Amino acid sequence: MAKLYNVNTFKRAAKKRLPAPIYHYMAGGADDEIALRENISAFDHYHLMPKQLRDVSVINTKSKILGKEVAAPLILSPTGMSRLFHHDKEFAVAKAAEKAGLYYGLSTMASTSIEQISDVSAGPKMFQIYILRDRGLTTEFVERCKASKFDALCLTVDTAMAGNRERDIVHGLTIPPKFGLKSLLSFASCPYWSLNFLLNPRLRLENVIHRVDAIKDGNMGLMKYVNDQFDRSVTWDDVAWLASQWEGPLVIKGVQSKEDALLAKKAGATALMISNHGGRQLESAPAAVDCVRPIRDAVGSDLELIVDGGVRRGNHVAKALALGADACSIGRPYLYGLAANGQSGVEQVLNILISELKRTMTLMGCRDVSDLDETFLS
Ligand SMILES: Cc1cc2nc3c(=O)[nH]c(=O)nc-3n(C[C@H](O)[C@H](O)[C@H](O)COP(=O)(O)O)c2cc1C
Repeated sequence: MAKLYNVNTFKRAAKKRLPAPIYHYMAGGADDEIALRENISAFDHYHLMPKQLRDVSVINTKSKILGKEVAAPLILSPTGMSRLFHHDKEFAVAKAAEKAGLYYGLSTMASTSIEQISDVSAGPKMFQIYILRDRGLTTEFVERCKASKFDALCLTVDTAMAGNRERDIVHGLTIPPKFGLKSLLSFASCPYWSLNFLLNPRLRLENVIHRVDAIKDGNMGLMKYVNDQFDRSVTWDDVAWLASQWEGPLVIKGVQSKEDALLAKKAGATALMISNHGGRQLESAPAAVDCVRPIRDAVGSDLELIVDGGVRRGNHVAKALALGADACSIGRPYLYGLAANGQSGVEQVLNILISELKRTMTLMGCRDVSDLDETFLS
């Protein structure tokens, strides 16, 4: 395998490993992918101002996020169906996160259940929940998270309906992947992935599968069931209801405006994931990092702010924190690691990002992540 030394090299390795429909499902965004691109390029508009001769012999990245001590202000965002990318699926990611001392986010749409993750990981973890049409299922998730000792809930609010991902149409994505004529060539050119896909347990949406026993047409029927569960009538009153059910740290994922940030605070949120879903939902939504300053100014120090989207470098984390965020969160970067090399690929990506952050801090003259503020921006 080619030398892997930053997130982009893992992206290239993932592209080689995965059949085209699977790679593009992971890497793609909505419509013309402006939000996807700008999430990343927006970081270039901020510049770091170093402070020289400040004794940077010891650098501390440890912080407290959502009530838990973590090794660095970096979270692994919830992503659905990791089984598509590697047969060790969410187990590999959760174990890598625990080893690195980082928070892991498990998706409702995961191919591993709340209980299975709790069995393999004692690390800090949050469950990404939706307020579904079937409120009974949402309540059931809350109870299961309490029983499985999850540390936080993360409510995704930017999925009133699915975004328009045109790469899925171009490459003929099906769930589960089908070895049809159209995709046969791309599957044949990825023997490692294809063999492991066929020889290991198949993709199942483990958190919801018990609800849809009656469905006969496999995961496609299950996907339809879950999509039908997205409730477009949800409002901030429902968020207050969820907060009262959970009573623990509650992150609202998908907020971008200061007005919504204030509503989230009023509804009982303890943290916000400032996010446009990695550019996969609303096209031309603002870049996540550009929303930090106005939201921090509006909410003061009451809410923890997490920048989710476009983080590809340790210096991006430093910039987000200097702007007023408490942490960053990553989706595709760890998925690239997972696809390229399973658990060890995820571990490598996390180590690279943390060591990049430490190098950035050393060169900036910043000993402790908690010291990062506007004075480090030019
Ligand atoms: C393949 C994939 C699946 C995702 N699935 C979910 C999901 O099930 N729930 C959710 O809230 N966000 C989901 N997301 C969005 C991520 O949580 C996160 O917001 C996004 O990946 C951040 O952008 P980044 O990939 O640039 O880091 C998914 C993202 C990707 C790439």
